Amino acid sequence: MSEKSIAIVGATGVVGQCMLETLEKRGFPVKSLKVLASARSEGRELSFRGEKLKVEVLNEDSFKGVEIALFSAGGGTSEKFAPLAVAAGCVAIDNSSAWRMDPKVPLVVPEVNGDDLKWHEGIIANPNCSTIQMVCVLKPLHDAATIHRVVVSTYQAVSGAGKEALDELADQTRAILDGKEPICDIFPYPIAFNCIPQIPQSDAFLDNGYTTEELKMINETKKIMGDDSIRVTATTVRVPVHTGHSESVNVETEKKLRADEARAILDHAPGVTVKDDPTNQVYPLALDSVGDGATFVGRIREDLSHPSALDMWIVSDNLLKGAAYNAVQIAELL
Ligand code: A2P
Repeated sequence: MSEKSIAIVGATGVVGQCMLETLEKRGFPVKSLKVLASARSEGRELSFRGEKLKVEVLNEDSFKGVEIALFSAGGGTSEKFAPLAVAAGCVAIDNSSAWRMDPKVPLVVPEVNGDDLKWHEGIIANPNCSTIQMVCVLKPLHDAATIHRVVVSTYQAVSGAGKEALDELADQTRAILDGKEPICDIFPYPIAFNCIPQIPQSDAFLDNGYTTEELKMINETKKIMGDDSIRVTATTVRVPVHTGHSESVNVETEKKLRADEARAILDHAPGVTVKDDPTNQVYPLALDSVGDGATFVGRIREDLSHPSALDMWIVSDNLLKGAAYNAVQIAELL
């Protein structure tokens, strides 16, 4: 790979920091790296490969000479600045939801539909974190047995909501343990010692009762898998976990798969690690997933209520495979 000029938009954020670390850890051939954020962070220093980089304020001219820009600064920023990056000759890999369902924009999980990168026109979308880890497991099962329907409930970590949300979890935990009232700024209800069946945390309910996050899982799964016929329903829940999204997933298939057959298929699936030994209480855990780019699957069993369905538990680091690592994998494929 030849060396590339890279920019990270939102470099001071939780995902932006992971992007920096992932580029470094994977030895990505970086010729130059620009770290961009809002005026709040101007002049802050971030380290990369032992060097200090000064944060610059994102503006219309930020992308001159940049070949690949990794965006993770919210939908509004991506909507405005990704086209400006493309106009400056740069490829934008966007972690927000702004461009994901645009028919001209590939929505890519390299292990599942890396080929879709061939038709990009400058912007490439990184899917929703919960969707990425789920499709890594669904794709090989779909290839083997044709999935008809998926029922998923998520247990999503607080880091997916950004650094202020993580501060709120820590502050509320401390307050509650000290017998004080928890203060809610980011979440509508206390997230400490609680589960909130609403993601994102504000203005998120549609007329049909679903949240926008649930619709993302439904629509993005079909787009990534390239199959509109797969029926998906989702309930997305925020839980007081720092990092690592977990999912309970029920998968109905056309051809019946036994649990051992599914395990064997998933053992060979790219990016997937099977952790499934019930007799020894071995199954995927959010805490174990942190810092690892893999998607873990376990608790694989045949659904007793259905002739041809499987239940499973899927876990991954939402900041890595769910965001930064998937984006860097896309950059590597490019
Ligand atoms: P900043 O740290 O200067 O606010 P998180 O999701 O962890 O909260 O991080 C969001 C990231 O997006 C941060 O790096 C934040 O920068 C950046 N960001 C938010 N709004 C803007 C904006 N309007 N322009 C540039 N960067 C932004």
